[in-house]
Amino acid sequence: MTLQVSLRNLCYSRKKCIVKKAKIVIDFFRGNYYNVNMNLNKFVTNDEYYTPECLINPIIDFLQDKIIALPFDTVESNYYKILKRKNIVKFIKYENLIKEKESYDIIVTNPPFSFKYEIIDTCYNTQKEFMLLMPTLALNYNSYLKKILDYKLKIILFSKKVKFLNKKKDAPFTCHYLHNLYALNDFLILNPEGEEK
Ligand SMILES: C[S@@+](CC[C@H](N)C(=O)[O-])C[C@H]1O[C@@H](n2cnc3c(N)ncnc32)[C@H](O)[C@@H]1O
Repeated sequence: MTLQVSLRNLCYSRKKCIVKKAKIVIDFFRGNYYNVNMNLNKFVTNDEYYTPECLINPIIDFLQDKIIALPFDTVESNYYKILKRKNIVKFIKYENLIKEKESYDIIVTNPPFSFKYEIIDTCYNTQKEFMLLMPTLALNYNSYLKKILDYKLKIILFSKKVKFLNKKKDAPFTCHYLHNLYALNDFLILNPEGEEK
């Protein structure tokens, strides 16, 4: 019985994987190379670190009355769970952020870090507000700093290292929000709840 059930699960996961790979091939032939890269990335790198509540609660006040686009989230995401309490939140596909820009006010998320430069470009090109959670290590890279200067972006730093959630093993990271919120200063420091990890 157990064996039967797990075999069925295995077949289901394999089927999902085959469907996903087929979609990537179709995207490729449609000339959507960027989308192909991002989707292939899911098979080769680990961008699966999920945001803990303590990095979302401190930004709620900046989002009052805004319609929030979540491009890299599901109903499992803490962004969705927390922000839907006070805001209208919409799952907008990353590829549609520009096309559907009239339907939201701000993009908020922890994006797949492997595509940080393309994602910053896309968010900037929407001409909407955005808040992207990024690892602080990025601030040591010339190309990242160039984006900040070129796009006149601002930074919210957190005063401690916190644990990001991963299906296999949680891991501590220092991080910051890269954003363009007109109402905020260029540089802010927030204090997440809880112990340093
Ligand atoms: C760093 S995780 C963060 C997830 C969630 N935003 C959070 O904060 O908990 C980035 C997520 O983006 C997903 N992702 C990568 N490429 C994507 C794409 N093209 N469209 C939608 N999601 C994508 C990854 O699978 C991963 O779950």
